[in-house]
Amino acid sequence: MAKITAGIGCSHVPAIGAAFDQGLTQEAYWKPLFDGYPPAQEWMRKHKPDVAIIVYNDHGSAITLETIPTFAIGVADEFQPADEGWGPRKVPVVKGHSKLAWHLAETLIINEFDMCVMNKLDVDHGLTIPMNITCGLVDEWPFAVIPIAVNVVMFPVPSGDRCWRLGEVIRQAVESFPEDLKVVVFGTGGMSHQIHGERSGMINTKFDTAFLNDLTKNPARLRKIKHEEYVTDSGAEGIEMVMWMAMRGALGDNVHEVYRHYHVPASNTAAALIVMETDDKKKPKKKAVKKAASKKAAKKKAGRKAPAKKPAAKKVPAKKKAAAKKPAKKAAVKKKAATKKVATKKVAKKKSVKKPVKKKAAKK
Ligand SMILES: [Fe+2]
Repeated sequence: MAKITAGIGCSHVPAIGAAFDQGLTQEAYWKPLFDGYPPAQEWMRKHKPDVAIIVYNDHGSAITLETIPTFAIGVADEFQPADEGWGPRKVPVVKGHSKLAWHLAETLIINEFDMCVMNKLDVDHGLTIPMNITCGLVDEWPFAVIPIAVNVVMFPVPSGDRCWRLGEVIRQAVESFPEDLKVVVFGTGGMSHQIHGERSGMINTKFDTAFLNDLTKNPARLRKIKHEEYVTDSGAEGIEMVMWMAMRGALGDNVHEVYRHYHVPASNTAAALIVMETDDKKKPKKKAVKKAASKKAAKKKAGRKAPAKKPAAKKVPAKKKAAAKKPAKKAAVKKKAATKKVATKKVAKKKSVKKPVKKKAAKK
């Protein structure tokens, strides 16, 4: 069965792509940001997912304002890098996983998410930059990708909670797919930023940090954040963070943070990268069962050992044997003493038996 094993939240600032493409990653301005990426790339090399479901937004590159699907899914075998005005980025073609993608589309639509099915979809920086951030500059992407595009460009846009529920159905779909696939889910965009108007350039580190913390500590709070709060506190383009909610909703209840990197500024934006792994619920339960079983086994063993004590009681005759080896007179004296002890014990037992009878009689 397919399984979601991890989630990645990742900014997709266009200038980060330009720094990659132009070899500027070690320039003084960019180095502090790019120095935070190798640990995540190392994690990705070790984790080795088969498929990544990348929840991102198109920026008018492939999905124009002529048609605005709230949710769209790419089901093709491959996706070309989009031309965003200065030619397509020179990154590898993104390979799809058509079979799982169609299964996702079917499951999502049956569960009330009316997806726009994209048989052709060029993918822009919203998808390719997170790929570079987590995989580096490579000749071929190390996993297949299913793009899920969310409209956060033109209001009305879906709420964070709506995206969370989208993620829940993504999880349901993945877990009902019969092939053994290791799946990671990306939520891209953000963090706080606004690229136009009077507040252009605004960054809210406090809001961003609380958001990152609560992805693991209190995701229920994040589900309640409304559009107005995103726009007010994280800037007009901070609304992109609703796509992180789809990623987080897909991970289920039990997750732990593996890695985080947050840097300000990246161009005029706060940039973040977070890696979370899902915890296998079955593991602790199995351990608990094993412990319970081991306790039972210990009790059984103890019960089995009890009869073993009986032979220990038989040590008395062994003493007799020892006594037998001694002179006959001494042995006879000990035998008498032993018989006296036995006699007194029998008397004591008889007395102890009589007492409860008297008590019962008294009660009556
Ligand atoms: Fe964006």
